[in-house]
Amino acid sequence: MEKATDIVDLLCQEHLEVKEKCAILFELLTFLDKEGTWEKICESLDFLDRTLPRHCEAEATLISRLHQNKAELTPDEKQVLFEILEEHKAMLAGLRRLCEVAEEYEEGNRNICEVLVTLTRDAIDRIFAHAGKEDVLLFELIRKYIDSEQLRDYKRMLRDTK
Ligand SMILES: [Fe+2]
Ligand SMILES: [Fe+2]
Repeated sequence: MEKATDIVDLLCQEHLEVKEKCAILFELLTFLDKEGTWEKICESLDFLDRTLPRHCEAEATLISRLHQNKAELTPDEKQVLFEILEEHKAMLAGLRRLCEVAEEYEEGNRNICEVLVTLTRDAIDRIFAHAGKEDVLLFELIRKYIDSEQLRDYKRMLRDTK
């Protein structure tokens, strides 16, 4: 994958990585009876649990930076930023629920498997729609209002907390 030059590139790359992990997770859930599958599911969930909260936090930092220039933001742009922060809450709550149910998993428990599949499908729908919106709307706003030097600094900050 091409090297990220600033935080927007990095966040874009993470969208791809997260979407890929979600697809793998969903695929794995259909092979739950196969040996070793559950460990791989846990790895995918760990990845999402490590990546998503920090990713959303970085975006929230950039959004609050955009709000500092609020005179420049149109009402529609402010609305998009509001929606993105609300979607973060729903997305992270969905992921937490998924991780909680996964902790209750016991081999052969069909009910839990069904719940996991439903929760994963919901999480994927939410994550894909959200990432698509950010790729088009949020990142465009960030590039419009925050200068490239600052975006490189933000990338360094995010890397340091990884
Ligand atoms: Fe986001
Ligand atoms: Fe994002």
